[in-house]
Amino acid sequence: MSDFSEQFIGQNLVSMHATNPEPFTQIELEKTIDQPFSEIIKNTNLGFAPDQGTEVLRHTLVENLYNGITTNDIITHAGAQEAIYCAFNAVLKAGDRVLVVSPIFEPLVQIPENMGCDVHYVELNPTDNWSLDLTMIENQFKHGCKMFIINFPHNPTGATINLNELNQIVSLCEKYGVWLLSDEVFRGLEHEIIDRLPAVADLYDKGISIGVISKAFAVPGLRVGWLVCKNEDFRKEVINIKGYLSICNSQVDEKLVSALLQSADKLLLRNLNIINKNKKLLDDFNSIMDCNIDVFLPKAGCCVFARILDDLGSIELVKNMASKHQYLMYPNTLFKTNINAIRIGFGGSRFQKFIEKIR
Ligand SMILES: Cc1ncc(COP(=O)(O)O)c(C=O)c1O
Repeated sequence: MSDFSEQFIGQNLVSMHATNPEPFTQIELEKTIDQPFSEIIKNTNLGFAPDQGTEVLRHTLVENLYNGITTNDIITHAGAQEAIYCAFNAVLKAGDRVLVVSPIFEPLVQIPENMGCDVHYVELNPTDNWSLDLTMIENQFKHGCKMFIINFPHNPTGATINLNELNQIVSLCEKYGVWLLSDEVFRGLEHEIIDRLPAVADLYDKGISIGVISKAFAVPGLRVGWLVCKNEDFRKEVINIKGYLSICNSQVDEKLVSALLQSADKLLLRNLNIINKNKKLLDDFNSIMDCNIDVFLPKAGCCVFARILDDLGSIELVKNMASKHQYLMYPNTLFKTNINAIRIGFGGSRFQKFIEKIR
């Protein structure tokens, strides 16, 4: 991402590509959970946290976000990013064939590529609500596959799959012995509760679920993520690798995140209220852009991947928006797809200002 953003340094642009809802402030969080931070962190042990993560946070995760897993199945990390990095390095080696949904959040494919893996893509269908073709997945698995990488609810489209599709993916992974890495950082931000999927770690022994406090819960300033998997050998390897990275999270951050997730529903409700309000503004979107675009109304999260229907390339459109209006969006080239589109985040208060400004 940085190479792309570098060309805009010094232009003082407002970022319009964020995937998380408006970040909470400390004051708002304290009101939401009805507890001051000072009380939560008083008497915190400031030694190293256990390498697997503190018992208090892992227990909160078991109680509030998952079914059928134990505290042993969880390892906490410095953000989802570290969890993803460790998971890939624990399972994959150069030459392994991996299958990735596309478009995709770049690190989910760039890390395996950098490791020398043989990366293949299964593209979501832009003309059918970004749907996933399950027969294409099985065809790919027949050639051998070490890991399938999915991300539903999906960045950048805001699409998701249904339970039946998820169960079929798990069955295919079981049949072909494929690891299933499921980036679930937007789980909880489904606009309709019926679209909420179970975590793959709850469904499959070789399923790895990735979670984080930054996205669905909108607290990106606390760098706490986690992975969940029932496979013990995998977890041992992850802890080995983590020992060369963060080693452990801050005990202060883990205590705070644990307290916040005890009120997970309240945090999600605040975020969904913002999202549902701003989502209505997406209707105006087509009319205010300089070109014809197609906005698939997302089913989850707060970003859209607007397809450009004219001849204009996405990078040109991004540059136009930056120079004319001082807003920065992300082009499709950052999501490993040739589908001509830009990602726009609509979860912040600045989205309303953006619509007003360019209307
Ligand atoms: C799909 C997805 N996974 C993981 C991450 C990483 O989250 P964090 O930066 O909080 O570690 C992001 C961040 O944008 C994301 O969009």
